[in-house]
Amino acid sequence: MTTPQNTPQATPQAGIFIEGNRAQHVLEYTLKADAPMADVKSALARARADVPAGIAQVLAVGPGLWARLARNHMPLGLTDFQPITGPKAHAPASQRDVLVWLHGPARDAVFDAAKAVDHALQGVAVRELDLPGFTYRDSRDMTGFIDGSANPKDVAARKVAALVPDGEAGAGGAFVLSQRYIHNLDAFNALSEAAQERVIGRTKADSIELAGDAQPADSHVSRTDLKIDGVGQKMYRRSMPYGTAGEHGLYFLAFACAQSRFEVVLNSMYGLTGDGITDHLMDFSQAVTGSYWFAPSEGDLEKALG
Ligand code: HEM
Repeated sequence: MTTPQNTPQATPQAGIFIEGNRAQHVLEYTLKADAPMADVKSALARARADVPAGIAQVLAVGPGLWARLARNHMPLGLTDFQPITGPKAHAPASQRDVLVWLHGPARDAVFDAAKAVDHALQGVAVRELDLPGFTYRDSRDMTGFIDGSANPKDVAARKVAALVPDGEAGAGGAFVLSQRYIHNLDAFNALSEAAQERVIGRTKADSIELAGDAQPADSHVSRTDLKIDGVGQKMYRRSMPYGTAGEHGLYFLAFACAQSRFEVVLNSMYGLTGDGITDHLMDFSQAVTGSYWFAPSEGDLEKALG
């Protein structure tokens, strides 16, 4: 079997790359200040082991906790999320210690998995976010636009975008960004379909990228489809729609080979790059949490948890 060039060889957490599950659940925790590290390790190991077969799981930890668990595997550039204040929009920081992302075919089995994880962690950590989510229609965001169209197309390309390359500290692991966004769908839906398409930068029905002059400089696509020194700032997005009739939105979740990719794109969205333009989408959705995480390779996680 041939290996595509540059595809990392360390074994990543499989749950990052499994697609097609319609039920999801995200849990975020802060460690209890007095929790002994030995107890934290065994609770995390139990949380992983207690997820029933058939449910995909990803365990990621905040920079501070990973430094305590595996100082020698600290990936370059992993730091806490900082608040972002641009000319027109603000993204708060809520940096936490543990992120568990669960997904599976059915809501009931994902619920059982979330309950098992929570049970394993409750002695050492405080639950800060407990968010069920779902696939909305044919993988659309609640604005009605397909989310994920520009993701790298095959598993090899997704691994290159999402994983720390071989030879670097943390190889086979992924930098993770999560932000819970609350949508103002009444405001978005009040726009004509053509105006909505100019906010996103793609057509609504079939997700075709607007071309040439039809693509506004402040569309979401224009603000996020970036190259730095000729290198596309690709990431692998796995965001999750969530919510109720009253409050709903997108739990933005993405994996990348470097944290700088997230920083560059966020700065562009929030109007902090040279042109000072803010992503028009930020007029219709407000971030209320923000954390950076590291999802270590299977090997690094096993070593760290003992
Ligand atoms: C309210 C929150 C957000 C919503 C509703 C949203 C939705 C979308 C949609 C509908 C697309 C176009 C289809 C696609 O290519 O997937 C897209 C593209 C994209 N988004 Fe977002 N997004 C949000 C936040 C973010 C954030 C916080 C980031 C990164 C920090 C981000 C990064 C990207 C990237 C890299 C693309 C692909 C651009 C390209 O190469 O064409 N998005 N998003």
